[in-house]
Amino acid sequence: MNILNKFSVPFILTELSKDKQNKIYDLFLNQEKYLRDTDPHSKVYTDFFNSNKNYIEDIVSILREDLYKFYSTVGFSNPVISQAWMQQYTQGCFMTPHNHGTTGYSAIYYIRFNPKEHESTRFISPIHNFITGDNNEYKPVVNQGTLLFFPSFLMHYALPNSSTELRAILSFNIIED
Ligand SMILES: [Fe+2]
Repeated sequence: MNILNKFSVPFILTELSKDKQNKIYDLFLNQEKYLRDTDPHSKVYTDFFNSNKNYIEDIVSILREDLYKFYSTVGFSNPVISQAWMQQYTQGCFMTPHNHGTTGYSAIYYIRFNPKEHESTRFISPIHNFITGDNNEYKPVVNQGTLLFFPSFLMHYALPNSSTELRAILSFNIIED
């Protein structure tokens, strides 16, 4: 009796250099004043709904090499970053399960993250346990400075931040032009 496991969901992880981490942290400090508690479903300070977001070009410039590697790894022809936003999680902040659309890939970059205090993003497999029907989840091992790519359609969430230490991320969506 053979088992053939078909279909899989790719995750691409890379660690940014200190120099790139510092550049993105500077963008975050400039943006912090625009991060507001305005998400209708979650408790998180975000600029997702704010029009004061002019850092896509800076991100493309800082991440140029990493993005080219990623694009060739997953097979993009004419990728474009369609949206970017930042979020900060003070104690008690969380994100309910959501996805970033039906096509393309999305990225999460961990701007402020302490693995001893914080949890990474939790991803929910589109394929449930075939016997029990339970959700299958994946919680990648990340650190401050980790850049993580995943298919945009994938449901994910963040548990409440139980720490007094700030957790902060940059996120963006990449679609084929
Ligand atoms: Fe998300």
